[in-house]
Amino acid sequence: MDSILDRFRLDGAIAIVTGSGRGIGAATAVALADAGADIVVTARTVSQIEETAERVRARGRRALVVTCDVLMEEQRAELVEQTLREFGRLDVLVNNAGGSGPMPALQTSESDFNETFRFNVTTAFRMSCLCAPQMVHTSGKGSIVNISSIAGKFAQAGFASYGVAKAGLDFMTRNLAQDFAPKVRVNGIAVGSTMTAALSGIMTDDLERAMLARTPLARLGQPEDVAACALFLSSPAADYVTGEIYGVNGGLTGTPMEMPRAGL
Ligand SMILES: NC(=O)c1ccc[n+]([C@@H]2O[C@H](COP(=O)([O-])OP(=O)(O)OC[C@H]3O[C@@H](n4cnc5c(N)ncnc54)[C@H](OP(=O)(O)O)[C@@H]3O)[C@@H](O)[C@H]2O)c1
Repeated sequence: MDSILDRFRLDGAIAIVTGSGRGIGAATAVALADAGADIVVTARTVSQIEETAERVRARGRRALVVTCDVLMEEQRAELVEQTLREFGRLDVLVNNAGGSGPMPALQTSESDFNETFRFNVTTAFRMSCLCAPQMVHTSGKGSIVNISSIAGKFAQAGFASYGVAKAGLDFMTRNLAQDFAPKVRVNGIAVGSTMTAALSGIMTDDLERAMLARTPLARLGQPEDVAACALFLSSPAADYVTGEIYGVNGGLTGTPMEMPRAGL
């Protein structure tokens, strides 16, 4: 008898997960492997992507390790070429590499602003445009998941560059869902405070207390919380979902932290 759980399976699928050496990307790579996909594990630090690849292989799936800086156009193209050479098909792209910390608006240079946008939006745009035609050509359809942030949803001091970038990523997600329908679905995840190296870099006891007080589900996120949503959006379970930004953030209805205003 068919089970609804079969729709969450990705047997035979090939998935590229950018920034999968650690954090949310690594958890997503492992989650997709758990569901049966073979994974292209990619980031810049070889030891970390090898580690994720071992976790994928421990689940009986194939892992291709490709070093790629998503900011470099040639490396993005080589990533997709190597994927197709090795596996001959492509089904899923998770644009996870991205990020930035808070930055006071008046200390944000033009280059800071542009680079944050380029890292979070332009790279995902270019990867999506490279991959979508290959998904259709090799598999007939595909799914793209963009890892965004609540910083793109709630306005707050200190987040002008990162917030604009993630809001841009969200709107790009909705636009590309229109461009690529009906064969390639494009969705995003608005991630809340999630315990990864990126967050622990700015975490203090006071900040954690403040974040927990504002988070209805009263805990910080774990990478697997996001990975579970990425699996849903990647899989046939979400075959009728496109152009959506799902929140995985403990029920936040506002910003989880407060940065100083410019003081004008
Ligand atoms: N953690 C949170 O609280 C949180 C909240 C909202 C949104 N997010 C979003 O979630 C995503 C992942 O964040 P995370 O917290 O998991 O970060 P993380 O733990 O720092 O991991 C980032 C991953 O991306 C890779 N990466 C960084 N720069 C890269 C580049 N130029 N090219 C290719 N790969 C690169 C890193 O490896 P290398 O450095 O070796 O390349 C690493 O594997 C980001 O888009 C971030 O904006 C996170």
